[in-house]
Amino acid sequence: MTETFQIPLEAAEVYEERFVPALFGQWAPLLVEEAGVDRGHRVLDVACGTGIVARTAADKVGPTGSVVGVDLNEAMLVVARRVRPDLEWRQGDAAELPFEDGSFDVALCQMALMFFPDRAQAIAEMARVVTADGVVAICVPADLDEQPAYGPLDAAVGELAGSEAQALMTTYWSCGDLGYLKKLFASAGMTVTSTRTHVGTAKYQSIDDAVTTELEATPLGEMVSTEAYDALRQRARDLLQRYVADDGSVDIPLAGHLVVARR
Ligand SMILES: C[S@@+](CC[C@H](N)C(=O)[O-])C[C@H]1O[C@@H](n2cnc3c(N)ncnc32)[C@H](O)[C@@H]1O
Repeated sequence: MTETFQIPLEAAEVYEERFVPALFGQWAPLLVEEAGVDRGHRVLDVACGTGIVARTAADKVGPTGSVVGVDLNEAMLVVARRVRPDLEWRQGDAAELPFEDGSFDVALCQMALMFFPDRAQAIAEMARVVTADGVVAICVPADLDEQPAYGPLDAAVGELAGSEAQALMTTYWSCGDLGYLKKLFASAGMTVTSTRTHVGTAKYQSIDDAVTTELEATPLGEMVSTEAYDALRQRARDLLQRYVADDGSVDIPLAGHLVVARR
């Protein structure tokens, strides 16, 4: 089964409070910039989660533009609405976007394509809902072999936390090949106009904070036993030691691809 990153409300709250500042927040301005989002644009944020990309785009489009966030998970949208009640938030599936053809200037999708069972269909839907000269831009984690820290962590989850948790981790890295992404866009009749590979940093107060956040703000939290949780915390202290600063905080490198395409 494809892992679709569905989490309950408490986890969505942790996601917004801890995971977004630590990891997702830094990618949103990059994606908005790569896509050329500008004043007055109508922007769609697909699989918006708690809405970090939509909020970043809203600051850019200003009062003459508009932003809509769509996500499968109502819990994510509850948090998104609480944080930014002035924006439009819709429940919906990326494979069947609830919008007319050509409704947006830009469709964005950050760190979510890998969770869609039919990625080609989702890209085709984003292509459909932008105007003829519209832009679709996505951001995904790069392949596991480009992840010096998450590579060993992924292996530790597989070893210590069981097959369901391993399947989720495998999904995280499953869209990390640029050739594969270009083919997906081509299958939707789109041309990739730019790609950028960036190494960001997941910034946590401590290694324990990193493990807690990456488990409790994701579906992993419900897949891992208490024993496996303790074992993972222990193993992470060894694996991540080289990324720890004098004050105990930890900067974990995360490589990702930003891909922009036009119809
Ligand atoms: C890792 S989160 C990323 C959220 C957000 N884009 C961000 O950068 O914080 C992945 C999101 O994809 C959503 N998702 C998974 N499958 C989906 C689908 N088929 N349609 C819409 N959203 C989906 C999940 O509900 C979750 O909110």
